[in-house]
Amino acid sequence: MVNLTSNRLTRRCVLQGIAAGMVANGFATGGAIAASKIPFGVAVHLDPFRQEPRFRNLLKKHADLIVPMNALKWASLRYDRDKFDFTGADEIIDFALQHGKSIHGHALLWYHANPKWLDAIRSARELERLLAQHIEQVAGRYEGKIATWDVVNEVVAHDPLTQGKWRRGIWYDLLGPRHVELAFAAAARAAPSARLFINDYDLEDDSLRTEARQTAILQIVRRLQDKNIPIHGVGLQAHLYAERGIGRENLGKFVRSLDALGLEVAVTELDVIDWKLPADRDRRDRAVAATVREFLEALTSAGQPRNVTTWGLSDANSWVKETFPRQDSAIARPLPFDANWQPKPMFHEIKKFTG
Ligand code: XIL
Repeated sequence: MVNLTSNRLTRRCVLQGIAAGMVANGFATGGAIAASKIPFGVAVHLDPFRQEPRFRNLLKKHADLIVPMNALKWASLRYDRDKFDFTGADEIIDFALQHGKSIHGHALLWYHANPKWLDAIRSARELERLLAQHIEQVAGRYEGKIATWDVVNEVVAHDPLTQGKWRRGIWYDLLGPRHVELAFAAAARAAPSARLFINDYDLEDDSLRTEARQTAILQIVRRLQDKNIPIHGVGLQAHLYAERGIGRENLGKFVRSLDALGLEVAVTELDVIDWKLPADRDRRDRAVAATVREFLEALTSAGQPRNVTTWGLSDANSWVKETFPRQDSAIARPLPFDANWQPKPMFHEIKKFTG
């Protein structure tokens, strides 16, 4: 019998397994709302984590899973070329372990949030060596502690229809498409017990651009499997735009295709960009919650995600405020708790799915 969780999984063996009537691992298809509880995850920003006891209390109470939001990025760990600084990452990870939470690692390779010295590298050989060393040190340090890793983050171009498939940046420009294979192979060596994910945004609506992004992800997954390089899941960032709507059929088709390849799906960075919504607080909160409901209903009707993680917990600390500023003076309300750490309709909606 083919072991679907094996690190040696190939596409052919998955297809044979499915043809033989086996159920793919980890992603049960067909349920309306998932039968078993879906773990609820929260990405943790270091400043409020250090300064705000209400944040830590809510994490203890509600989070099943914790993600260091920025502390595992190259810019945080590798500010100096010659030494690693694990201070922030260790603080969050120790807290998670102490309170029995699972941990998701974000991210071993990204085109953004890199130290200046890395972006200045011009030699492909040097960059390849640095990538392997970085992953060996970072994923190796937390082997057995970090259950799942975003091995690569945002490697697909924003618009593959006009820009080509790959995201431009240091990794692609110097190493070409190989950078993804190098990263996954290094992660599998350094953290053999971890589940390895590719993570990306704008996979949730039904525009042609999103379809092209989904296709690109599927192609990357198949190529890794054909080369016998382990990959276990796809992270849907799910930075949802309230004005866009969810592409229910398109999303369902995408997750079923992943399921057929033996891959899990996780929701990794959920929040709702509310810049186009009316300023009125209650109307906005209801619309944000409705967007989340529409998304989670569409997703869970295609299969059960490994977890649902929000990108922060309180509106007091969200990247949405600066990245997607409103035209009026109202403050963004993209997350499950308000700026006073009180639950909002979005939280109750998530709870319906995560128990
Ligand atoms: C964001 C963080 O939330 C900010 O605190 C930081 O300043 C920039 O990065 N997609 C990702 C995340 O994969 O790492 C980004 O996080 C948000 C978009």
